[in-house]
Amino acid sequence: MVQAPPSPAHALSDLVDDIKRYEAMIETWNDSQQQVVLQLKQAIEALHKEALTRLIRSVKHEAMGALRHAIQDEVVYGLLRYHDLVKAPSLQQRLNQALDEVRPGLQRHQGDIELISIRLPDTVEVRLVGACSHCPASQLTFSEAVEAAIKRHCPEIQHVVEAAYQPVTLSPEDQPKLDWRLVTSLAEIPEQGILDLKLEGHKLLLSRQGEIVQCFHNACSHLGAPIDGGECENGILTCPDHGFRYDLSTGDCLTAPPVPLRPYPVSVNGGQVYVQLANA
Ligand code: FES
Repeated sequence: MVQAPPSPAHALSDLVDDIKRYEAMIETWNDSQQQVVLQLKQAIEALHKEALTRLIRSVKHEAMGALRHAIQDEVVYGLLRYHDLVKAPSLQQRLNQALDEVRPGLQRHQGDIELISIRLPDTVEVRLVGACSHCPASQLTFSEAVEAAIKRHCPEIQHVVEAAYQPVTLSPEDQPKLDWRLVTSLAEIPEQGILDLKLEGHKLLLSRQGEIVQCFHNACSHLGAPIDGGECENGILTCPDHGFRYDLSTGDCLTAPPVPLRPYPVSVNGGQVYVQLANA
């Protein structure tokens, strides 16, 4: 009967097992015998390194893409790293790779992320920017996506710290440039209550606790119905249709946490409430 050839993964583990078996055997030999084996190993490795160096040199001008593709194989990469024939990506490069990996997801929500600092040996500081910096789900985004990607690409990083959000200080000249719109005054929003507004096609729901104002898209995360007609009690708004409940201080959905209300950036200046419509 003809036996199927071993799968590459199986063949690889066999090779590693062989090496371990011989290493265990050699450990029982005396020092001079071990020295001979070590010299032989170094001589063979030097020969392999020379051959690999020539191979890379001869193909890199013609087939650099193929070489890069080959290096993505962890066994090929490991061997070339062992012989010092490829450079390990720096921590900065690996951090950039991690952030590039999560960036498309953040940009789909008009957000982004920036690397603030690297504090060696094991801490990096990053900041969510754009709509993500205001988003009630940003903590979830931060821990689940950003931190996980960084730790996957940079196992030496133990602590991923989120830099504090820097609120935008508006000057009157900045307002048109940033697409901030004056939507109402603080006094128009009932304390602990809600105010619904329509502006330039946006359906807004504003809530206030003292001078802290939140603004959300006036649409339930369940089926998109307006929620301004719902009961509002102790900062919790209940959708009139099927009862989804929302914490108005954050937009968090208490009924289904993964689907918070969609936030709009808000700024209060001189008792006037501005909402950034373009980035909502
Ligand atoms: S539409 Fe709001 S709970 Fe169903």
